[in-house]
Amino acid sequence: MLSTQTFFFFPTAPFVLFVFTASTIFHLHQRLEKMQLAWELEALEPATTETPSRPQPRPQLKGMWTINAIGRLGNQMGEYATLYALAKMNGRAAFIPPQMHSTLAPIFRITLPVLHDATARSVPWENYHLNDWMEEQYRHIPGEYVRLTGYPCSWTFYHHLRAEILREFLHAHVREEAQNFLRGLRVNGSRPSTYVGVHVRRGDYVHVMPNVWKGVVADRRYLEQALDWFRARYSAPIFVVSSNGMAWCRENINASRGDVVFAGNGNEGSPAKDFALLTQCNHTIMTIGTFGIWAAYLAGGETIYLANYTLPDSPFLKVFKPEAAFLPEWIGIPADLSPLLKH
Ligand SMILES: *[C@@H]1O[C@H](CO)[C@@H](O)[C@H](O)[C@H]1NC(C)=O
Ligand SMILES: *[C@@H]1O[C@H](CO)[C@@H](O)[C@H](O)[C@H]1NC(C)=O
Ligand SMILES: *[C@@H]1O[C@H](CO)[C@@H](O)[C@H](O)[C@H]1NC(C)=O
Ligand SMILES: *[C@@H]1O[C@H](CO)[C@@H](O)[C@H](O)[C@H]1NC(C)=O
Repeated sequence: MLSTQTFFFFPTAPFVLFVFTASTIFHLHQRLEKMQLAWELEALEPATTETPSRPQPRPQLKGMWTINAIGRLGNQMGEYATLYALAKMNGRAAFIPPQMHSTLAPIFRITLPVLHDATARSVPWENYHLNDWMEEQYRHIPGEYVRLTGYPCSWTFYHHLRAEILREFLHAHVREEAQNFLRGLRVNGSRPSTYVGVHVRRGDYVHVMPNVWKGVVADRRYLEQALDWFRARYSAPIFVVSSNGMAWCRENINASRGDVVFAGNGNEGSPAKDFALLTQCNHTIMTIGTFGIWAAYLAGGETIYLANYTLPDSPFLKVFKPEAAFLPEWIGIPADLSPLLKH
């Protein structure tokens, strides 16, 4: 049984890599004969490094856990962070699917190792469905080969590991480019001291929200209120707007004060640049969606979000708990639901 597998993590990364890889390959070859191993070694690093002076055995990690890689960047970040936290909580070794690696690794310095498809096919997985909020029973999920499923994206899973999660989602090269861009911005000829990232989620949501979820997306009035909230509290902040509907933003966000820059390229296929811009800002205005939630979580400043954007009987509220999605200190501005009541 793989349960006899024991990993001790010592301080030097090459040694850890060696022990981890060697023992993993040994045990897998022994126990799961048909497996073809193809570890992507560049992603294989210990999740945390101990201080060199005090070598301490890490908790023994048994089995092999993974999670589905579905949705776009924000969803997959939520899935990654949830796997990271729940595997750690349950003392299991976590591996990500290759699709998740190809979404996240070009942007972030993630450390969870990849489980190649050929290997994954030979593992006797048990699926375990997660709600989008932490539950007590997730502290004791049975099974050694567990594939977590669902769209978890909630701080309730991983906020106790915030520092580690921020490290996992450190930007690689895109960060510098974003910083250069921000450094070049001026408000009335001066370099601003406060940058507010504004993420306006549109695209498919413009139709999906009313038609599927009895909800709305952010309107111009919400954005005006959110911008004014920061204008009232900071001297000459600059608003850096990113959206997958930039044309709508240009028409609906009043830029006449000279403190709004339409910066995002809105390219959903390569979201790294827009995401880096938002996370390098000091504060966040988000609308809806996990991309904005993650940008706000990583930026770490004050956050304004669109609140109560569905009707009370929306099926959305069965799969989404606002209090598990938005940090308690974030500030909600209620949506105008009147467009939904006109029909
Ligand atoms: C920039 O200067 C103009 C003219 O003095 C002023 O009306 C405007 O409010 C200023 N914008 C900001 C964001 O401070
Ligand atoms: C845009 O903002 C300026 C300055 O506050 C204001 O004078 C103008 O009426 C606004 N334009 C629209 C279309 O709301
Ligand atoms: C605000 O963000 C800018 C750009 O990333 C950064 O240079 C600055 O240090 C930040 N200010 C604070 C107070 O964190
Ligand atoms: C959203 O609705 C709930 C329930 O009616 C209410 O308690 C909460 O204050 C509302 N949130 C905001 C930001 O208005």
